[in-house]
Amino acid sequence: MIEKKEFPQGFLWGASTSAFQVEGAAFEDGKGLTVADVRSAKKKDLQMDTTVSVDHYHNLEEDVLLMKELGMKSYRFSISWARIFPNGNDKEPNQKGIEFYHSLLDLLKENDIEPIVTMFHFDLPMGLVNQYGGWVSRKSIDDFVYYADFLFTEYGDKVKYWLTINEQSVIVSMPDMIGIDIENNSKQEVLKKAQIANYHMSIAQAKVFKLCHDKLPNSKIGPAISYLTALPATMKSSDLFAAKQLDDVHSFTLMDIAVRGEIPKYYKVMLENAGIFIEQSEEDIKTLKEGTADFLGVNWYCTTIVKKKEHYEERSWIYDQIEMIKDKDLLYTDWGWNLDPVGLRYALQRLNDRYPNVPVMITECGWSQKEQLEDGKVHDELRIKYLKEHIYQMYLAIEDGVNVIAFNPWSFIDILSSSDGMEKRYGLVYVDRDDFDEKSMKRYKKDSYYYYQDVIKTNGSTLIEEFSK
Ligand code: BG6
Repeated sequence: MIEKKEFPQGFLWGASTSAFQVEGAAFEDGKGLTVADVRSAKKKDLQMDTTVSVDHYHNLEEDVLLMKELGMKSYRFSISWARIFPNGNDKEPNQKGIEFYHSLLDLLKENDIEPIVTMFHFDLPMGLVNQYGGWVSRKSIDDFVYYADFLFTEYGDKVKYWLTINEQSVIVSMPDMIGIDIENNSKQEVLKKAQIANYHMSIAQAKVFKLCHDKLPNSKIGPAISYLTALPATMKSSDLFAAKQLDDVHSFTLMDIAVRGEIPKYYKVMLENAGIFIEQSEEDIKTLKEGTADFLGVNWYCTTIVKKKEHYEERSWIYDQIEMIKDKDLLYTDWGWNLDPVGLRYALQRLNDRYPNVPVMITECGWSQKEQLEDGKVHDELRIKYLKEHIYQMYLAIEDGVNVIAFNPWSFIDILSSSDGMEKRYGLVYVDRDDFDEKSMKRYKKDSYYYYQDVIKTNGSTLIEEFSK
């Protein structure tokens, strides 16, 4: 008899969102202002802002039922820090905010969906920025630990999987995302502040890892890291090295810190070359070692093809030494993200080479496009192609020996894109609204919803079979 090929039993088939991108109710029930609110308000003449978003806050039950019907085994979402502590570090938490996440967690439990909870996804409370500059100040470390401790106490018995910080390297390379003033500071000053913030986030995260292990021994915790997966544009050593440097700096540094508990030497050298000297006390070194991750959360979308610039300064900032290249043989989204599924298998194998046996949770993976509702339907063939091919490559990686435990594509429902508003849709569920018109706000299942439903129902076996023919 031929053995049926499928995903490992208990594999977490899920989907993802984040608070400011779906909740709306940005100024309701005591929630404080966040950097995400302020950034999106600045662009409100161009695109939707966080005020109403896709109104998940008022549609919890319906949305969770859609998750259930899809067959989701896990749901990755984030808690808005400012819904719990409106200013980030208030003495008293906001009761309505606390209740909202209890309702969500209870609904998930009733429907057998495992929550995967991100603590901080791009929405730093403005209160912390106004008080002391946010992550740039060391005070942020204690405030993040205080917030995490509160979450562990309040929700610890309902949550097994925790994620600390979403895409730290992205917010560090776009530092206005954490409230750093990029207009009135010199480039060097911005770089320095961003790197100090980066360091504080890493220390805070390590403390939270340790706290979780001490307080919730049955829970698992990890970071959610943006994994670019850089590929060289040519086989020239300079391009190979450019790709390596980009992955090292953008992705592996943070993975090393989370998994190995240490900052790699090349990163420190790069900072020093840029004139940035971060004092690392003995105590900080110990903190990083004592608090390491149980798994790696990885946000993976596409590969990034790079080339070393013809002229560059050896000691300049790595991002200034390289240029991105478009591969004409690959399909791209309207926003320039390619479809390169083998890249995912390659990426996962590289993780296993570097961090053998550390479980990997795919916390984001998705395809964006402009979409129209036609007679209540959305025919998103490209998203189906994207899902199908990536899931198959993920399966091959698992066969190769990579311990992938979850797949949470981005996104469960159409979201407010962090950079491009509402017209850049990612969801399996369509929301009938556009950037400037809230329309009916009704939810519609896209073709990809039905496709993914079948993948989950068959634990991937039908999809694997299709490729094996
Ligand atoms: C990731 C973020 O960087 O990519 C998400 O964690 C984001 O919040 C997603 O939405 C896609 O990026 P964008 O800019 O297209 O929304």
